[in-house]
Amino acid sequence: MATKLNNPRGTSDILPDEISFWQTLESKGRQMLTLYGYREIRTPVFEETALFKRSLGESTEVVNKQLLEVKSQRVDADEASSLALRPEGTAPIVRAYNQNDLGREEYLSKLFYIGPMFRGERPQKGRLRQFHQIGAEAIGRGAHHPLIDAEMIALAVGMLKSFGVEGFRVKINSLGSSEDKANFAQWLRAQLKDRINHLSDDCKNQYERNVFRLLDSKDKDCQAVIRSLNIGTAHLSSKGLEYFNAVRCGLDSLGVAYEVSSNLVRGLDYYTHTVFEISYEGLGAQDAIGAGGRYNGLIEQLGGGDRRVEGEIGAIGFALGIERILLALEEQGKQVKAGRVIDAFVVTGSHAQVDAAFLLVDKLRQAGLSADMDYSARAFKKQFEHANKLGARFAFILGDEEIKKGQVSVKNMATGEQRSLSIDEAIKSIERS
Ligand code: HAM
Repeated sequence: MATKLNNPRGTSDILPDEISFWQTLESKGRQMLTLYGYREIRTPVFEETALFKRSLGESTEVVNKQLLEVKSQRVDADEASSLALRPEGTAPIVRAYNQNDLGREEYLSKLFYIGPMFRGERPQKGRLRQFHQIGAEAIGRGAHHPLIDAEMIALAVGMLKSFGVEGFRVKINSLGSSEDKANFAQWLRAQLKDRINHLSDDCKNQYERNVFRLLDSKDKDCQAVIRSLNIGTAHLSSKGLEYFNAVRCGLDSLGVAYEVSSNLVRGLDYYTHTVFEISYEGLGAQDAIGAGGRYNGLIEQLGGGDRRVEGEIGAIGFALGIERILLALEEQGKQVKAGRVIDAFVVTGSHAQVDAAFLLVDKLRQAGLSADMDYSARAFKKQFEHANKLGARFAFILGDEEIKKGQVSVKNMATGEQRSLSIDEAIKSIERS
């Protein structure tokens, strides 16, 4: 026998019993995003590799270790020689924002997306190679206000609540402006210079490549060193601190609960000012159910912006991980799977009635009722089992007698009540119920 093929490691099939959960979540998400003025955008699932290198940063794990590059049999000379599956949605949206000149029309573009992302990570619970995000990005000259940061965090929290997730924690921090960030990196390097030799090779590596990663290192010795530095908000300029305080005031005025975590940095290089992460403790090591932050400057870094107009384009966004939300809901004992329901299942007495059943099913569907049948006219018992599996509300039984009289026996599957009716009456009766 031929060997059975399986899905690639770190991916999963979303089966029909789970799909209604996904659809509900997506529709609640869309509803909330629309309330906040966001409009959907769909970008390709693969992009030029250079886009991710230039935005997320060459030294980040996502680019350095996890990018899934696409090998094409056919790469024309005028096409990009290197393509990669998108590991996240922000860079592609900034690329689309720039390419389509969205900033020309709009002072503030509010965009959202739902879709699969790809990272070649080592798979484990809550960490997949293909996962799904629902995210929002606010980009434009009008995206600079700290109240937009507060609103963005409130939106992420509101969406999670609307999905039924409870007991999550919101951590926020500020990295300050690009200048603050550069000063902070320099200061960190100076502080750690004499101590780094006592730390692990991994930490030394991070020190060289991206010193911020040491702040949220999982390494115990590294954590102790970082704690001893007592990093509060000292790395922020007065303007940076003022901005961060205004974001906090905004969150307080909206009644959004949060903690300030000075160790919170993000694994992607493009962030400035506010960064945030939403975690759900019951998930173990992969407890981030959503994250985001501000990324002023990325638009210009990717070739956008209008040099004739003063000032940087502002931008902020977040993405929630759908699979992790599902795990959190399961952990809370919430129903994430659903069986199906159809209006009617047509049961036939024998092969002689299959053609009539076929037409009856069609008539039911024309009337807007979901209907199905057993095309091979198996034993009555088997057909009723089939009807129950499909969640049929009614069975329409067609035997010789019924066909002769132009009738059908309608059985209510919940109560067992059964009556004979003309076909039109039968359809009307279940339309009403
Ligand atoms: P991120 O923190 O890399 O940020 O991902 C956001 C969320 O996606 C995570 O909190 C997590 O729930 C989910 N996620 C990430 N990787 C995996 C994985 N391997 N398996 C399952 N779920 C995963 C970003 O992607 C940024 N683009 C967010 C953002 C938007 N920042 C500004 N705008």
